[in-house]
Amino acid sequence: MGVRLRYIIVAATVLFVIFYFYTSSKLPPEQTQGIIQPIVSHDGRFTHESPFIFIGGIPRSGTTLMRAMLDAHPLIRCGEETRVIPRILALRAQWKKSDREWKRLQEAGVNDQVINAAISSFIVQVIAGHGAPAPRLCNKDPFTLKSTVYLSEIFPNSKFILMIRDGRATVHSIISRQVTITGFNLNDFRQCLTKWNAGISVMYEQCNEVGPSRCLMVNYEQLVLHPELEMKKLLDFLEVPWNSSVLHHEALIGKDISLSKTERSTDQVVKPVNLDALTKWVGHIPEDVVADMASIAPMLEVLGYDPHGNPPNYGKPDDIVIKKTKDIHENGEEWYKKAVAVVNDPSRVDKPV
Ligand SMILES: *[C@@H]1O[C@H](CO)[C@@H](O)[C@H](O)[C@H]1NC(C)=O
Repeated sequence: MGVRLRYIIVAATVLFVIFYFYTSSKLPPEQTQGIIQPIVSHDGRFTHESPFIFIGGIPRSGTTLMRAMLDAHPLIRCGEETRVIPRILALRAQWKKSDREWKRLQEAGVNDQVINAAISSFIVQVIAGHGAPAPRLCNKDPFTLKSTVYLSEIFPNSKFILMIRDGRATVHSIISRQVTITGFNLNDFRQCLTKWNAGISVMYEQCNEVGPSRCLMVNYEQLVLHPELEMKKLLDFLEVPWNSSVLHHEALIGKDISLSKTERSTDQVVKPVNLDALTKWVGHIPEDVVADMASIAPMLEVLGYDPHGNPPNYGKPDDIVIKKTKDIHENGEEWYKKAVAVVNDPSRVDKPV
């Protein structure tokens, strides 16, 4: 009883302080007349000033692996893709893009401030509400990183992780796994690479614009080759203490890490970090596309990938990764069964090597 009462008093005080701070310092006095409520999650624990972590990138670039590794950390919760967060961001971008629409909204009093309050409230409720609370909440929806600059403004203490992967591998994976993405023609490798190039180029610019203290680019290949080094850098960036559990996410699947049966990458994160996905694309790209690689996808070079290497030299893996990859090959049937059990659909899971 005493603990409960104390909790209520603390929560009420926190709410009051946030409300007072918000209304007194964030809004000009003439606009404090009850229009904008403080943005707080239902449980009172999270606000637009919480240090949220946003993970994104082009789909099939290791965003699910990244969130599974962070979900393995006792202080962080990411959870499944929400799918509605990138949609609300796209809607707002659409309103803003049309001059007429934006003007009409302004004239109706639906100004930037009102829209930002509504959108940040929506996002806070979804992130906080769709899983267990944790000291650090994180969100993985690949396309949110197209709105890094906007998100960094409405969530002033948030951080961003942009997953970067060799576009040839990403596109090969999108096509071979038939992942539907608006704008991608799954029958046309060249067209998909062009779309990859355009998408990653927007995300790259946005990440650079908010700067290295807010947005960290993580190469999927380097994460797979050197998980410990890369995760240490990442946790430093997030200002979260190191815990080796991030290197063993496979041990927590189905226990502390909840997976979606319908997300396309779920079956793969059941396995430990391994080398199998790095060069699968080699030999599966039409010859004319390989020949024009540098001009179809100039972002490859910008991101440090040799467009003429088939495959390029990604580097030498750590011993532990070689060991885990060997284990997956030797116990292929077992890992296969685990993956099928999680997604309930054998046709989606890679057969044992
Ligand atoms: C790492 O996390 C586990 C729980 O997942 C916890 O038992 C352990 O104490 C943590 N280690 C450190 C060094 O914080």
